[in-house]
Amino acid sequence: MSSMTNKDSNGHVRGTSLFVDDINVREGTLHALVFDSPSAHGKIIKVDYSKAAELAGVEQIFTYKDIPGENQIGGIIPDEVLFAENEVHFMGQPIALIVAKSLAIAKKAKELIKIEIEELPVVTKAREAFDKGLLISPPRKFELNDVAKGFEESDYVFEGTTFTNGQEHLYLETQGSYAFPLENGNIKVVSSTQGPTSVQMTIAKVLGLAMHRIEIEVNRLGGAFGGKEDQATPWAVMAALAAYQLQKPVKLILERNDDMRMTGKRHPYESTFKIGLNKDLKIIAFEVDYYQNSGAAADLSPAITERTLFHATNSYFVKNAKLTVYSCKTNLPPNTAFRGFGGPQGMYVIEAAIVKAAAELQVPVSKIQEVNLLQDNDVFPYGQLVQNAATKKVWQEVKSQFNWKEKQKEITDFNKENTQYKKGLSLMPITFGISFTNTPMNHARALVHIYQDGSVGISTGAVEMGQSVNTKMLQVAADTFGLNPDSIKIETTNTTRIANMSPTAASTGADLNGKALQKACNTLKTRLVNYIIAANNLKDSDSITFKDDEVYVNDRSIDLGWKQLISDAFLQRISLSEHAHYTTPEIHFDKSIEKGHPFAYHVYGTALTVVTVDCIRGTYEFDSVEIVHDFGKSMNQGIDVGQVEGALVQGIGWMTMEEISYDSKGRLASNSLSGYKVPDIFSVPKKVTVKALDTEGEAMAILKSKAVGEPPLMYGIGAYFAIQNAIKAFNPDYQLKFDAPMTPEKVLMGLYERK
Ligand code: MOS
Repeated sequence: MSSMTNKDSNGHVRGTSLFVDDINVREGTLHALVFDSPSAHGKIIKVDYSKAAELAGVEQIFTYKDIPGENQIGGIIPDEVLFAENEVHFMGQPIALIVAKSLAIAKKAKELIKIEIEELPVVTKAREAFDKGLLISPPRKFELNDVAKGFEESDYVFEGTTFTNGQEHLYLETQGSYAFPLENGNIKVVSSTQGPTSVQMTIAKVLGLAMHRIEIEVNRLGGAFGGKEDQATPWAVMAALAAYQLQKPVKLILERNDDMRMTGKRHPYESTFKIGLNKDLKIIAFEVDYYQNSGAAADLSPAITERTLFHATNSYFVKNAKLTVYSCKTNLPPNTAFRGFGGPQGMYVIEAAIVKAAAELQVPVSKIQEVNLLQDNDVFPYGQLVQNAATKKVWQEVKSQFNWKEKQKEITDFNKENTQYKKGLSLMPITFGISFTNTPMNHARALVHIYQDGSVGISTGAVEMGQSVNTKMLQVAADTFGLNPDSIKIETTNTTRIANMSPTAASTGADLNGKALQKACNTLKTRLVNYIIAANNLKDSDSITFKDDEVYVNDRSIDLGWKQLISDAFLQRISLSEHAHYTTPEIHFDKSIEKGHPFAYHVYGTALTVVTVDCIRGTYEFDSVEIVHDFGKSMNQGIDVGQVEGALVQGIGWMTMEEISYDSKGRLASNSLSGYKVPDIFSVPKKVTVKALDTEGEAMAILKSKAVGEPPLMYGIGAYFAIQNAIKAFNPDYQLKFDAPMTPEKVLMGLYERK
């Protein structure tokens, strides 16, 4: 079972998998296009839609005036309008929706709209916004013990600044939705969302309808990475608004350049740090101010600030800490969730601080990392005790299994013998908490039907987005029923079958939905077992098991197949359907004191990265990334290793080549795939090795198999520091800079800078 392949892979390679844009177009479908702001900040003086509205084939142009409910889509803070009213706050902000008989006509109409805007000052940088007092929400602060006293007790104190840039999600499937009017003014929307319930709620608010009149359906997403947690919503709401008002199907799919221009990205962070160490290299004090570039509205920023704080000390014990995040309001599209959810931005800073301290003290970085690794009964700055920490184990295993010592020596020798090429190495430990940091979100439901022919249909709140969560759900059900997976179907994710879903996010999809599913399957199983005992005059103490589509009593076959069992049970009027609810036990967090036990468990790992830099060209190639990762007891090694590899490469992309660039007017310069570079097959490390930590697994994880979606992205941070080490080997004048991504241009500057 643990080698079961992704059940979607056949459909994907044959092109038969259905995404939003693949749904057969219904008779009478209209096509929608967003008219968006050409200015990043300004007052709307006048918009003239008359010429566009007169164009043949244009059905209607919707603005905020056509909204029957509230013009409001903010999820956490109600600070974001669906359509701009009198002001615009970022370039690409939706102002109107053109609905026409074809997309070509809608595009022509867009050209005919005339807009007059009185320009206002544009802010694109977080610190600049902070200095002007532009904050999205009050700052959040985590404190442990007394940081001032910690610095007094430190033998060495170092300070510095860091910058990490944003990151474009670049899901293969762009944002899209398709809305259908149903009878009695009800409505159904197929959306490319990670959060069907938040889409449902937002449509309800904007249309002024009760939630039960709106059905959201998700088949699968062509990638999401957090970019569809909140930001699939506006397009679904727009399509729903038009479909509801016109009583016709309306389809709205963003083209790639519109998607890149109009949607938010990973938050860029500017940070200032101060780190204090004692003579034994123990980190005694750590203080950071994080300036998060939130964009023009809150979106998920307040939640993302939280995860930055939760991961600010990464895998290290820090005795005295003071960590503050400021969500700074700028005139960029609202930045949003991206794999790691603020965690990577937090971890980068402490790694940078350690690198800085090591350089100043002329000790190896790995030495400072090693002496500070977390162990059991250490406390995280948010009050949770460290339990079952694998931090030191994964670190030691990476060093021993991948010959860290020899590699270091080889690199030193190589660098002595070569002038054009220099190699660099880094170790990157990770510790990542699993659970939504917002405790009330940690719940899920599953609905299981056993049909009278023995086949099984399963609905959960999990959204399939390429991470193979549906395959894992299939495994859970097949495992519980002892049934061939071919008899089990995973249904679409739909708000009429599963209500009040949390988004599929925070790496929790498989755990939360899998546990709910397991519970539903177990209840059905118990019901069937009781029936078997009664029907066959067995004793309660007899052990009934289901295996290979058959029933076993005390490990002996009783010639009763699953199909026969179900058919018999059905005739006995036994319920063959079950709906179950799961909540993560034990977790809690008190925001008023910023302390608690927010995570079900942590995921641990360490990556060893080796890079070769071409010191004439400033280019680089990764020789190898070797990882020991804590999967718990992996329920599907193919899928889980695939998640580690994908996340690693995405992390390397963020750290080395993906350069989001806005000009001073707030216009996205890196607005296409020719100007925005993402890792391709030529830029992935030549060798990636992922070894599983040998462990008993984790009871709070589904089938003891730990969450795997986000944690490995942060292995990519090692890429930055490996390159930096290669630059140092070439240029003794090089001054440490923490300014990611480390693009070839920056490498070249670093190689040849002089004191
Ligand atoms: Mo994910 S970044 O929690 O959608």
